[in-house]
Amino acid sequence: MAMTVRPVTAAVGAEVSGIDLAKLDDATFPAIERAWIEHGMLLFRGQSLADDDLLAFSRRFGELDPPPNQERGRISPPGYPDIYVVSNVLDAQGDPIGALGAGEAVWHTDMSYLDEPPDASMLYSLEIPPSGGNTWFCGMQAACDALPAELRRKIEGRRIKHDGTYNSGGYLRQGVTPTDDPMKAPGAWHPAILRHPGNGRATLYLGRRRNSYVEGYSRAESDAILEALWAHVTGPRFVYEHVWRKGDLVMWDNRSTMHRRDPFDGEARRVMHRTQIKGRQKPIAYAA
Ligand code: OGA
Ligand code: MN
Repeated sequence: MAMTVRPVTAAVGAEVSGIDLAKLDDATFPAIERAWIEHGMLLFRGQSLADDDLLAFSRRFGELDPPPNQERGRISPPGYPDIYVVSNVLDAQGDPIGALGAGEAVWHTDMSYLDEPPDASMLYSLEIPPSGGNTWFCGMQAACDALPAELRRKIEGRRIKHDGTYNSGGYLRQGVTPTDDPMKAPGAWHPAILRHPGNGRATLYLGRRRNSYVEGYSRAESDAILEALWAHVTGPRFVYEHVWRKGDLVMWDNRSTMHRRDPFDGEARRVMHRTQIKGRQKPIAYAA
């Protein structure tokens, strides 16, 4: 069966069909890599992947990035330090087997509070609750192209401070001192508008909202600009809502998309195995 790529919305995401990721051949991979850059998020349904298959597919995109530091540090399945578990399920001792619990995970891109954030992340679904826990994506290249000129002018050539104090679930990262002052918070500065190294397009790079700050403005001015940017990018025309099925592999481009997750019933089980691909270069500014 031949591979087909069908966009799921105009702004972000495509479903790839006709592919068994556990048996992927070298000849097919470049088309997948191109589709990932073009669409920002790829969905492969009906996969059956062991952890070794997930690692092998992930490694085709580059060197793996160690899991992020979450509310309970870094949690991996035994023997698989490069895989990280996203789950609300508790083990026999009553400790979570993974990160992010069952609450909402607010809009974010992964680990942009570092100088060299990962290029990609992927989630493979092993157990899915009967409802809730949908994951949303927004297309930051389409959102950037459609920015009102006035708003674009306010951020052009400027950097944004990305805060690493809290994760998207609102949890304090292990070992971090809490603060709501962007200047004191651990984090990184990145250009507000990036040039995507894969396709040369301009992409808005916001990271996450909490404790974020646009350089050269007062905190109040910066907050007003950020509110306007966030309202713009998370509007329905740039967004795809993913309703999970078991066996879905979803991967995203961290430079050109953001994502968030709906809460779900904490009594239900949701188990995802996840990998991250290291950034090949630091985010660079888009110069028109
Ligand atoms: C992640 C993430 C959301 C989800 O793994 O980076 O944000 O749907 N996950 O579990
Ligand atoms: Mn994430």
